[in-house]
Amino acid sequence: MRRPLIAGNWKMHKSVAEASAYLEGLIAEDLPTSVDVVCCPTFVSLPAAAMVVTGSDIGLGAQNVHWETSGAFTAELAAPMLIEIGVHWVIVGHSERRTFFGETDETALDRARAGQAAGLEVIYCIGETLAERDAGETFAVLERQTASLGALDPEHLVLAYEPVWAIGTGRNATPAQAQEAHAFLRVRVASIFDGTAADAMRILYGGSLKPANADELLPLADVDGGLIGGASLDVGSFSAIIRAAAVCAAGDVS
Ligand code: PGA
Repeated sequence: MRRPLIAGNWKMHKSVAEASAYLEGLIAEDLPTSVDVVCCPTFVSLPAAAMVVTGSDIGLGAQNVHWETSGAFTAELAAPMLIEIGVHWVIVGHSERRTFFGETDETALDRARAGQAAGLEVIYCIGETLAERDAGETFAVLERQTASLGALDPEHLVLAYEPVWAIGTGRNATPAQAQEAHAFLRVRVASIFDGTAADAMRILYGGSLKPANADELLPLADVDGGLIGGASLDVGSFSAIIRAAAVCAAGDVS
């Protein structure tokens, strides 16, 4: 059985003080232990956030990482620097990085490799745009975006399927669309690695996942949790999604 993972991608939200207060509130929620929980604040909040989550079950993630360990790369951060302050996870290849900051399949892979080399667990984001879906290219895009994943260690890799048209739009994939893409990706993982990796790898759904649709998306056979943007910014709604994932993990679904 794959343990559900619920990860919050805070993007460029929350001050350092707000991040700490949020995490104190999340710890006080007494969350179910059957779900892995990760929060990904801004870089500047990470040191304070690390101090708050130390000793709790909440994992800390960064939203990006550079592919070199040091060097003349203004405004970038290296994986060992993240490890040094207690970060264990990193998001790579998010569509906002691809759309606004020139991230490509190649650079995303390089970042993921560097993250894993330093000991970070990588959440690797993929997903098609609306134009690509409308053109019937969803699977071709997913195939292209995963083409080089064989260079990574599957044991420290989580995939996040995030249809770009569903991110921050309030419009989520239907359960059928999500399950179809996730099932495709699981077969893809089996062909890139092997059946054991495919059975073990967590594939998260991302794109307007919220308490109101968690009950229909999280129980899907090949959905192993979520990467949550907007709905992760509030302790109450993030906790509700975590609890919905715990219900699925218990097999207590209709
Ligand atoms: P959203 O963002 O939940 O606000 O759609 C998801 C993401 O970008 O990871």
